[in-house]
This record gives sequence, C-alpha cells and structure tokens, in this order.
Amino acid sequence: MTEESDNPNANRSTLPSESAFRSYISGDWADSARPAARMREQVPFCVARREVLSAEFVGLTLVIPAGPSLVRAYDTHHPYRAHTTFTYYTGWGSDTVPDSVLVLTPNGDAHDATVYYRFPAGRGTDEFYSDPDIGEFWVGPRPSPEDVSVELGVATRAHAELDDLLAHADGTWRIIREADPVITAAVDKARGEKPDADAEFFRFTSEQRLVKDAFEIAEMRKAVDATALGFNDVLSSLPEVIAHTRGERLIEGTFNRRARAEGNFNGYETIVAAGHHACTLHWTRNDGPVTSGDLVLMDAGVEVESLYTADITRTFPVSGTFSETQRLVYDAVCEAADAAFAVVKPGIVFKEVHAAAMTVIARKVSEWGFLPVSAEESLSEHGQHHRRYMVHGTSHHLGLDVHDCGQARAEFYKDGIVREGMVFTIEPGLYFQPDDLTVPEEFRGIGVRIEDNIVVTATGAENLSAGIPRTSADIEAWLAQARR
Ligand code: GLY
Ligand code: MN
Ligand code: MN
Repeated sequence: MTEESDNPNANRSTLPSESAFRSYISGDWADSARPAARMREQVPFCVARREVLSAEFVGLTLVIPAGPSLVRAYDTHHPYRAHTTFTYYTGWGSDTVPDSVLVLTPNGDAHDATVYYRFPAGRGTDEFYSDPDIGEFWVGPRPSPEDVSVELGVATRAHAELDDLLAHADGTWRIIREADPVITAAVDKARGEKPDADAEFFRFTSEQRLVKDAFEIAEMRKAVDATALGFNDVLSSLPEVIAHTRGERLIEGTFNRRARAEGNFNGYETIVAAGHHACTLHWTRNDGPVTSGDLVLMDAGVEVESLYTADITRTFPVSGTFSETQRLVYDAVCEAADAAFAVVKPGIVFKEVHAAAMTVIARKVSEWGFLPVSAEESLSEHGQHHRRYMVHGTSHHLGLDVHDCGQARAEFYKDGIVREGMVFTIEPGLYFQPDDLTVPEEFRGIGVRIEDNIVVTATGAENLSAGIPRTSADIEAWLAQARR
C-alpha cells in the first residue's frame, strides 16, 4: 500500500484503510461478462510488418515500448496515446494499456512477438479500488491476457516480468529509445548505451512506414471521411461562431467534438486562424473572433481509433463570398496545389511535388509585382525570394504520425522516389503578413492554405480529400448550402 506521504492523492483522499473495509471491498464480485475476443483485422498486416523488421534485424532482440501516460499537471494526465512504432507492429491503437512493451525475441531467422502489459490486478488487490492512475474503479478494467493474445495475435506476459527480462539486455538488444524513458534506462543499465544502433533501428521503422499497406490506406480513408464531417459541422455552426467573441475557439470545439465522436481525437492541435491569424502557420491559440469579411484557415484532422490521422486545411470566407483579392490569392494557391497533384506518380522524386507548387507560387507573386527579381531568378537556388510568402514545405508523409516517417533518411524521403502506396499531403499556401511592406495593403493579413491528403496509385495519385470542397467556387457553394 502506498505510504500517505508518497500518495499524490492523499490530500483529497477519504478512502478508509482499515482492514474491515479492505476485506469487504475485495469480495463478492461477479465474474465480468465480456464479449468473446476476436482477432483484429489488422493482425495479418502487423504480422507482415514484423516479418520485414525481423529480416532486417536477424538475431537481435527488439524492444518497442508503447510509452507511459504523460503528466499534464501534478497527478492529472494527458489523454493517453501509444507510441506510433508500438501501434504499427502490434495493431494496438487507442485502447492500448499504458506502459505496454512489445518485445521481439530472435527465434532462428525470425522473431517471436510478446506484449508485456499490466494484466488485470484482480479484485483482491488494493490497486483495484485505490489507484487513481491505473485502478479499475478509477479508469476502468484492463483486458485479460487471453483476450489480448487473441485480439492481437501475440503472446502476452505480465508487465511485472519486465524487470527480470530487461536485466538480461546485452549488446544484441535494440530499443526505440524515445518511447519510454524508464524502459530505455533499464535496457541501458544492463547493456550500456547504444544510441547509434538504436537510432538505426528507429530509422528503419520510420522508413518501413513510407509505403502504406491496404489496412493503412483504408484507415486513412476513414480518417479523411470523419474529418470531412468535422468541416461540415463547422460550416453549419458559423452563425453561432460569428456571434461569439472567441469564434475560433468555437470552431476548434466543434471540430474536436466530431473528432471525439467519430475517432480517438484530433490527430494534432486543431488550427483555426481567422483574418491575419492565418499568417501564423501553426496558430493553435485559437482565441480570436471570426468576423464577416475575414477568411478562416482551418487545419484539422481526425485520428481514428487505429491512430491513423488525416491532415486537411480549408480556407473559407466568413461572409460566404471571397473578396476580389482573397479570390486572387485563393485561386493562385489552388493552382499551385493542382500543379503539384498533377506531377505525382510512381517514379518521380518526392521533392518534385514541392517544385511544381513553387513554380506556380513564384510566377503568381511575380505577376503581382511583389518580387525584386524575375520568377525564374527567384526559383533558382540562389534566389528563393517567393518563399517569403510560403516558408513551409508543400508535402509531408502522413499516417500514424501527422508528420509520418520523420526519421527516414533524405534519400528515401525528400530525395526519395515516390512509390505506389505512399500517402502524403499537398499543402501549398500564401501568407502575406499584416506588416509586410513588400505587398500592397489589400494583400496584407491574407493567409491561405489548401491541404489535401493523397495516396499514390499505380499510375498517378488519388486525392483522398477531394470530397471536401476546395476550389473557390465550390467553397462558396458549400457555404451557401450550409446556410440553408
Ligand atoms: N497540421 C500541420 C501540417 O499541416 O503539417
Ligand atoms: Mn495541416
Ligand atoms: Mn500537413
């Protein structure tokens, strides 16, 4: 039992500790009735993913923690989210038990997969009723080892066995260091630190995710479809949004409500930027008003229960109609996005997508007279003046992480060949800061981004988010329809 002084809950706890209470609360509980466990549909995909990993790391023990629940303040926690690498190889998504660890143990040329996790504590334990972090009375029951084994198709062992296991770590062990500092420290203690070898392991997992399998692409479609519902909700709520002094917050809440209802959460902090806030690329304070005459840039994505996330941006006029300047900027960004989409097919180099968008952006700002040099000179390596109005990249990989495959080497990512099954964003923008003296006054404070999620096909690409209106005319029709 936790000592009073160690218990963060002690100041507000009124739980009796007398033996009469403890023995009374531990008895007379019926066996929990639960539906029969069934293997999840992603299991065959996870088996195939582990086989690829296995073949690369023959003879090595691979440790992939899900990670701990992160403290938000004192004894309250952020919503739990398993480490992407753990979910990728186990298929355990939003319902992962915190602190779980996947261990892949060499068996000949292959590996055996075991998930160590906190088994149900049982009603005879103190934890059951007295532990606000993991006790069943507080956070709900944990699944049985038999059920986890059936659902994920792996062996299961008790979390308590990890101490002994990790004490045997040696030079043949690799760990995803970033996922769980406690597990990493235990491995390092037994084995010594091997940051380079671990980084190579992490990098491989990231590169493996560059091409999505059929399960992942189906989940991405679900994430995009749920995100579309969130955008529709926002448009329908505009009268209420405009009436509130913090309309951006209302939009954020409306979208996140849908994200919770349809999926696990929003996949990243929802960006709602009205007026000149749109010139702040990752505006997540979202505390401004939403006023007629302004554009609203909303960048949001639903993360579904399997933890795949969409990442979509739409920019729309609050009044229902773009002003002449707003439309000019919007249509330029849309043309850049279309140009980027048009070049996508297997065999091109990833950064060609960005280059296609930049050609349009440079040409437009040159036509409007904003550049001190020609569009060609600006586009040259030594120019890049047009990037003043779009400092971010056009595309990033997308999947379990919103910026997926972040550890991949440049030769496979930025400089890599685009392959069928890759999923990435196309998200050009133009942002004219409110105090930018290089542009006429009517452009200042306008920020536009259009972000779609695409999957590479055998011959080109499919825009997964094409169903969310994206041309200026379609956006206006969408707003008109939402108002009816
Ligand atoms: N939402 C962040 C991004 O678009 O990359
Ligand atoms: Mn985005
Ligand atoms: Mn993005």
